[in-house]
Amino acid sequence: MARTVKLRKVTADNLQAVAGLELAPDQADLVADNVYSLAESKFDPDARPRAIYAGKRIVGFLMYEIDGCKATIYRFMIDRRHQRRGYGRAAVSEALRKFRSMRGLRTVAISYMPANRPARQFYASLGFREVGLDTDGEMIAKLKL
Ligand SMILES: CC(C)(COP(=O)(O)OP(=O)(O)OC[C@H]1O[C@@H](n2cnc3c(N)ncnc32)[C@H](O)[C@@H]1OP(=O)(O)O)[C@@H](O)C(=O)NCCC(=O)NCCS
Repeated sequence: MARTVKLRKVTADNLQAVAGLELAPDQADLVADNVYSLAESKFDPDARPRAIYAGKRIVGFLMYEIDGCKATIYRFMIDRRHQRRGYGRAAVSEALRKFRSMRGLRTVAISYMPANRPARQFYASLGFREVGLDTDGEMIAKLKL
């Protein structure tokens, strides 16, 4: 069965749950810590941090920005206890639905460490095409909206 998730703003009410999301130990270096991302977002007016809700439960976190006709998802994680259950796919689908409803957006880009094979497989399965490394050595993959 396809999962349904909602993306909601991070507020004082859900901050603790977002901060408590965990990755497996071998995934810890793949994406910045959520608390760090939230701190970063306070100094970057373009950053849009979002909690990923499955019903009332928070199962993950993502952060994106919009620049002209391009949306970029640059942080994304599903809590280790909820991985491989379709929530990641549902969260990206929900983000794409949101982006498609915004006027003028044409592409969505995501970035990940090139050695992150699960992420590579995950984004490829959603139709993203790798376009090359950015200046930080992260792989950029894009999808036309
Ligand atoms: C990548 C990630 C977000 C996927 O979330 P998820 O909820 O587990 O993904 P889904 O259950 O929706 O999986 C969708 C598809 O992605 C692929 N996939 C997901 N996890 C995978 C893994 N560990 N190994 C190989 N393929 C994987 C599979 O094709 C999967 O389909 P299937 O389960 O039918 O085989 C999650 O594993 C994660 O948080 N990883 C650590 C952080 C990270 O790497 N973030 C991305 C870079 S910023």
